Amino acid sequence: MIIAIDGPAGSGKSSTAKAVARHLNITYLDTGAMYRVITLAALRRVIAPSDNEALAELVAGTSISFTGVPPDTRVWMNGEDVSEEIRGEAVTGKVSDYCAPAVVRRALVDEQRRMGGGCSLVCEGRDIGTTVFPGADLKIFMTASVAERAARRQKDFARMGIEKSIDELAAELADRDRKDSSRAVSPFSKADDAVDLDTTGMTLDEQVDWIVERARKVMK
Ligand code: DC
Repeated sequence: MIIAIDGPAGSGKSSTAKAVARHLNITYLDTGAMYRVITLAALRRVIAPSDNEALAELVAGTSISFTGVPPDTRVWMNGEDVSEEIRGEAVTGKVSDYCAPAVVRRALVDEQRRMGGGCSLVCEGRDIGTTVFPGADLKIFMTASVAERAARRQKDFARMGIEKSIDELAAELADRDRKDSSRAVSPFSKADDAVDLDTTGMTLDEQVDWIVERARKVMK
């Protein structure tokens, strides 16, 4: 059973996907974290997003792994715990540039299929239903109003001790959505057979129940 959850930043994907995985006792795969790890690695080595050769080498030499059970999963880059650093401003501001090149996407999509192969999982990202697992049993396209998404991001940043205005966050979200949707290789888009879930005004529990209920029907 594969559940694909796609949606823009701040739509509530991550917390919902983690809780769904816990409820159904299946694996959780956060593909955005993988693009964030490559971005961090590239920033540390001062590799430009346009340098395909260096990026190909970087991706080949960077091992990405996950440990733990949701919500307490940790993300590792070549054995270093980078769970917090990949959520920081430096990586968040650049990830749309580093996740776009074909050399990065092809390698990570292969790796995601390898990680998800043969097990039941909830996989979240931007191109899961369209590219990574087009045969997924259940595809959800999660959205939320820009105002709500910006408010959620503000809380996320506040937890990290960073203060940002709603206007600034809304502009950043819009910019990231635009870049993610307009790239040439596996752009952020909704699969034709995905079900819409607009989470504006919904609680986390409501979102989780909505998906779990559909997943149980598909599993029958
Ligand atoms: O979901 P997130 O904010 O952690 O994702 C980080 C970035 O990675 C986001 O700007 C879009 C990109 N991404 C992608 O292009 N494809 C995916 N499957 C997942 C994320």
